Amino acid sequence: MFKWDTLIINANIATMAEGAHAYGMIDKGAIGILNGRIEWLGTTAGITNSIDTLAKEVIDAQGCLLTPGLIDCHTHLVFAGNRSDEFEQRLNGVSYQEIAQNGGGILSTVKATRAASFDELYAQSLPRLQALMCEGVTTIEIKSGYGLNLEAELKMLNVAKKLGEENNIRVKTTLLAAHAVPPEYRHKADDYVDLICTEIIPKISVLGAADCIDAFCESIGFSHAQTKKIFDSASRWGLPVKLHADQLSDLGGAALVAEYSGLSADHVEYSSLKSVKAMAKAGTVAVLLPYAFYILKETKLPPIEAFRKHHVPIAISTDCNPGTAPSSSLLTTMNKACVEFSLTPVEVLTGVTRNAALALGIEDEVGSIEFGKKADLVLWHCKQPADLCYWQGMNRVKRIFTARKND
Ligand code: NIG
Ligand code: FE
Repeated sequence: MFKWDTLIINANIATMAEGAHAYGMIDKGAIGILNGRIEWLGTTAGITNSIDTLAKEVIDAQGCLLTPGLIDCHTHLVFAGNRSDEFEQRLNGVSYQEIAQNGGGILSTVKATRAASFDELYAQSLPRLQALMCEGVTTIEIKSGYGLNLEAELKMLNVAKKLGEENNIRVKTTLLAAHAVPPEYRHKADDYVDLICTEIIPKISVLGAADCIDAFCESIGFSHAQTKKIFDSASRWGLPVKLHADQLSDLGGAALVAEYSGLSADHVEYSSLKSVKAMAKAGTVAVLLPYAFYILKETKLPPIEAFRKHHVPIAISTDCNPGTAPSSSLLTTMNKACVEFSLTPVEVLTGVTRNAALALGIEDEVGSIEFGKKADLVLWHCKQPADLCYWQGMNRVKRIFTARKND
């Protein structure tokens, strides 16, 4: 009878455990896994029994880096169609806001997503998920937001759930019905907000279709007052909130989501010091999206020094979407976080592991390598954590371990 299912030895383990120094490294570390959980963690030298008797499978990592499975905590991965035409328009001088005001942008993806069948939507989204999984992503958040009515939002959320069920990845779903005002509610945004609050959120909550509620609080999205209404409805239906906040201007979105003890404020380029302090007080995570910053050629940096000073946890995510972040690469985003935002590799790896788990409210289960947590792990063909941020165009994944759903 073996003690563990799997024993990994001689790994350079970046535990990313809270309170540990930097990456929480264990040199020549070892991990015992049973039923998808980390049952033992220590050094290889600390194993006194004969190794072969301990586990069904023994893996000698030969000094390679082992990290927690990566977590992509903000994506719009489920959508239909393609917006390379808008990418081209932007390079010819038309702004993201102008494209949106002319009925393009989010609304052009809404058109394609509404028209797609469930199976077409699944088929178009799957390669994006697979690309992220190949890079060691073991947990992903997927938003709706290109349906903008109950039926189409539900279709998106169910596609996201099915992607999780049929592929070896943990999916958290977020309702983003307040992403844009749908064409049939043009000039009647308040009526659409009422629909979200009185019909869409209640139904989604009863069906258990989403884990969280998000909104786009912006001049081209929803106002502070409309967002507040949506958060009030979310609270009534027992759903946590997060927000696309202060991406293009400061509407006080980050402070608003903190007021509702929200999980995260995302983008936050234009957030004020007051908002940063409110986030610190509420424990709201700052989710930074450097790929969208780069694609939009944004020049206003998020208030990173203030986040550091006030101990606001920072997470990093792809924002994978057809408009502002046409990318299914978390590793590229990690490099961008270092270069565009001057974050250190420790901050970045923390941002796609422990703090990303915090942004999804699942920090007790995943995000670090600690006793009792799920054994979502990635073994890499490199020795140093900084290598993951450093070299581009090289996928160093050697092996991915994912706990089964019910472990
Ligand atoms: O996170 N800002 C709003 N939503 C997305 C963009 C969606 C799109 O352009 O399709 C974002 O940047
Ligand atoms: Fe987004």
